[in-house]
Amino acid sequence: MSLVNNEQNWGKLKNGSESKLFEPVKIGAWNLRSRTAMAPLTRCFADDQTGVVGDDVVEYYRKRAADGVGLIISEGTIISPRGKGYPGTPGIYSEEQIKAWKKVTDAVHKEGGTMISQIWHVGRLSHHEITGNFLPQAPSAIRAEGLVSRFRKPYDIPEEMTVEEIQEVISQYAQAARNAIEAGFDGVEIHAAHGYLIDQFNSDITNHRTDQYGGDLPQRLTLMKEVIKAVIDAIGTERTMIRFSAHKADVPNYMWEDPDYAIRTFIDAFKEVGATLLHPSIMQFERILADGKTMHQLVRKYWDGAIVGVGTLDPEMANKALEEGTIDVAAFGRPLISNPDLLNRLKNGKEIEEYDAKKHLGVLI
Ligand SMILES: Cc1cc2nc3c(=O)[nH]c(=O)nc-3n(C[C@H](O)[C@H](O)[C@H](O)COP(=O)(O)O)c2cc1C
Repeated sequence: MSLVNNEQNWGKLKNGSESKLFEPVKIGAWNLRSRTAMAPLTRCFADDQTGVVGDDVVEYYRKRAADGVGLIISEGTIISPRGKGYPGTPGIYSEEQIKAWKKVTDAVHKEGGTMISQIWHVGRLSHHEITGNFLPQAPSAIRAEGLVSRFRKPYDIPEEMTVEEIQEVISQYAQAARNAIEAGFDGVEIHAAHGYLIDQFNSDITNHRTDQYGGDLPQRLTLMKEVIKAVIDAIGTERTMIRFSAHKADVPNYMWEDPDYAIRTFIDAFKEVGATLLHPSIMQFERILADGKTMHQLVRKYWDGAIVGVGTLDPEMANKALEEGTIDVAAFGRPLISNPDLLNRLKNGKEIEEYDAKKHLGVLI
């Protein structure tokens, strides 16, 4: 699949510096230099035993800050050893991890950047050899199909969480948010997307509970609401972004049965707990979901807070969505893996290096 391709107008914005993308903007507590974000990108370059990031990761993020990216969202960063789903993913629960992240945030701040930590628990999408010999945690004991990504063993049958364990995980999210602030991050993004723990509670595929955490869609969003509330209580709504999605890492081609209803229900939940910053995630930004509207347009229909857009965006598409007011900030993922200087290339009409997983996934440039 061509992910940064020229038909998508990556070469077209010759007069890039005039794009709305390069306007400064304030969202929440963050004064961003541009309306651009680096999407969260798992890279698996942390020490596998300790979940600590090294100087290579400091330099990787520093370069994106030096390029002028408005908001850098870190790779998914796990809130507990049991929340881990891929070898080499970093954590934000130990003193050593916090100290190492401080080097990253210092480097980003020196370059004038803003950076938040994406806090993550993978739930059932793991294997006991990754989660310290504990079974993965999940709303219900339903095994995911397929093999653990980058590990090549089948997923374990997870352990259904007790209400006490749910409460413990909620406090781990809140603690991770406090740790992120201690590590110098400007806030956090709660990873409630892509079929990981929170999204497992949100979905009827993975949540068969009959207690207060299961039931119809509004009821299934209970864990997500409690996590958001705990994080907002810990660090403030103006520092808390929430990422959610229809699509799931382990269920190909999943889509909500009624996207308009689902989005409205999510937005009601976000409003109820006082969230203000949203990052709706989809792979194809321009895909129509309902009533001739894209995911981000449907979110905008019900939400007047901040919205980050994402999903195979190119600069022209992003500029148009910013002009229309559908989104406030445009996030780029794969193009920022293959181009540490993406924005400079764009401003100067220079060619963009096309993302190629085979070439770019194994190295940090
Ligand atoms: C290598 C890779 C790692 C990713 N890791 C994460 C992650 O840790 N957290 C997350 O929410 N999304 C993750 N994503 C999804 C991206 O944040 C983004 O939504 C997606 O790549 C679409 O944006 P793009 O078309 O600009 O790449 C990842 C995507 C890729 C390609």
